Amino acid sequence: MIITKNLGKVYESGEQSHVVIKGVDLQINKGEFVAIMGPSGSGKSTLLHLLGGLDTPSNGELRIDGTEISSLSEKELAYFRRRKVGYIFQNYQLLPSMTVSENIAFTMNADGVPQKKQKQRIAELIKSVNLEGKEHFFPSQLSGGQQQRVAIARALAMNPSLILADEPTGNLDRKMGKDILHLLSRLHHDTGLTIVMVTHDPYAAKFAERILFFKDGEIQSDHKLVEGEKDHVMENLLAKLNA
Ligand SMILES: Nc1ncnc2c1ncn2[C@@H]1O[C@H](COP(=O)(O)OP(=O)(O)OP(=O)(O)O)[C@@H](O)[C@H]1O
Ligand SMILES: [Mg+2]
Repeated sequence: MIITKNLGKVYESGEQSHVVIKGVDLQINKGEFVAIMGPSGSGKSTLLHLLGGLDTPSNGELRIDGTEISSLSEKELAYFRRRKVGYIFQNYQLLPSMTVSENIAFTMNADGVPQKKQKQRIAELIKSVNLEGKEHFFPSQLSGGQQQRVAIARALAMNPSLILADEPTGNLDRKMGKDILHLLSRLHHDTGLTIVMVTHDPYAAKFAERILFFKDGEIQSDHKLVEGEKDHVMENLLAKLNA
């Protein structure tokens, strides 16, 4: 699903250059659920933006679902972002003046999906994220967990093959966070969706099957999470994170 070779990002400000991602070599297979953990400022969000074509790499290769991202024109890249990738952010990023249904339809509208098909898809998605009855509510009338479920429905609208989630439970209490994680987990199992999720929370990371530990713009370690060994792996990682 994702292959990177020597993927890097450098920010230039004045005379200084700031290397944020240092030549990442990574392979993520179709259908994997991967968590990325690591200290604040280590480049996790930047990496996620690169993987989703929201930001352009300074160097290296990035292939997603068979497409070399750097070879795409602006127009092709926009198409790629709409069709292949769904994004979920910590602060939901819903449009406050749009209803639940309108928010979910946002990408479908941008892509020119016919109204009738949009309606059908919205109904399916509303059901899938358990928001029946809230179709005409505005984001301000929803709880944080409900808002994040709208964001998940919006991310899924175009049937993307990859979901990128940046701290999706970061603003939620344990109970609402748990609901969101179970929902992502179910979607992953039911549809074979590939998920890459950045998180600070070991509880959230344990929903994944693999954990990448990121530090100073590099992958420091890569762990398979096998049922029964998760707690042990996590303890070691947390010790590193707090070191
Ligand atoms: N547009 C930018 N211009 C310059 N530097 C940037 C820019 N965006 C990010 N950075 C720098 O890149 C580094 C990594 O930022 P990033 O947001 O990827 O970290 P993170 O691992 O997601 O941190 P957190 O856990 O706090 O969200 C930081 O030092 C940040 O200052
Ligand atoms: Mg971040």
